[in-house]
Amino acid sequence: MLPSGVFLLLILGSVVDTNTSSEKGSLLYPYGPDQGDQTNPKHDDGTSERIALFTPFTFYGKTHETLFVNNNGVISFDEPVREYTPDPFPLVDGRSFVAPYWADVDNVLGGDIFYRQTTNAVLLGDISRDIKQYFPETLFTATWAFVATWDHVAYYGSTSTKGNTFQAVLTTDSKTFFIILNYWDIQWTTGAASDGDAETGLGGIAAHAGFNSGDETNFYNIPGSQTDAIINITATSNVNVPGRWAFRVDNFQLTGVDSPKVNEDSDCWL
Ligand SMILES: *[C@@H]1O[C@H](CO)[C@@H](O)[C@H](O)[C@H]1NC(C)=O
Ligand SMILES: *[C@@H]1O[C@H](CO)[C@@H](O)[C@H](O)[C@H]1NC(C)=O
Repeated sequence: MLPSGVFLLLILGSVVDTNTSSEKGSLLYPYGPDQGDQTNPKHDDGTSERIALFTPFTFYGKTHETLFVNNNGVISFDEPVREYTPDPFPLVDGRSFVAPYWADVDNVLGGDIFYRQTTNAVLLGDISRDIKQYFPETLFTATWAFVATWDHVAYYGSTSTKGNTFQAVLTTDSKTFFIILNYWDIQWTTGAASDGDAETGLGGIAAHAGFNSGDETNFYNIPGSQTDAIINITATSNVNVPGRWAFRVDNFQLTGVDSPKVNEDSDCWL
């Protein structure tokens, strides 16, 4: 009797072991409740509350003091976003978005959305080192970061156990502003209300990744967006790190974005 009870405990222990620790993979910066993260409520098409930033974030000339972390894979500055089927950028209505993976997430069916803003010296050191590597012409020592992580999130209408894990990081030294998008594990592209298949989470109007400044010129659609190929975003990059995209966003002199041909030789492209 005792051995089987112990066995059951072991099984339970592994079931509740969510992927929220830093051991998950070197691509994702540490996240989860043990890092002090807040967790979004479990609502289909839900959002965080309006989050007041300790450090204002400049996004293409506009300085923002609040943002929302929206379940459907978007960080928005002006108002929450509940739309579940993505639109290509530039958006006609001029909303400012950072969209790591805009699609119909349903965290009631599975997964969690975490966020925190931080001045943790170890994390800021890691982020500064990465930014200096990708943007060697920029002197940058991060003084603040905002980390939002979608951890094994399910899609609306899912009849599978598929989950997507990705992260968006905003960071600054109060002079220069960057975003880093990290894709660790992408298993689905589309919710069932966007013409996706309930069993596979594929087909239909697939996820959209990139950012939209709100004006008509400063936006970026990560290759593969809104096609089946976005499932392979974990293998693409503009900074030669598969699964990672990084952008300077305070103005439009963007390494890797205004010159995507830099990476034409790279097998990181789809
Ligand atoms: C942890 O991540 C792996 C790979 O992404 C996934 O297969 C597994 O289901 C996840 N576990 C939990 C509890 O979310
Ligand atoms: C994703 O990448 C794999 C491996 O390169 C490839 O076989 C597959 O066709 C790609 N999927 C899509 C939908 O492009």
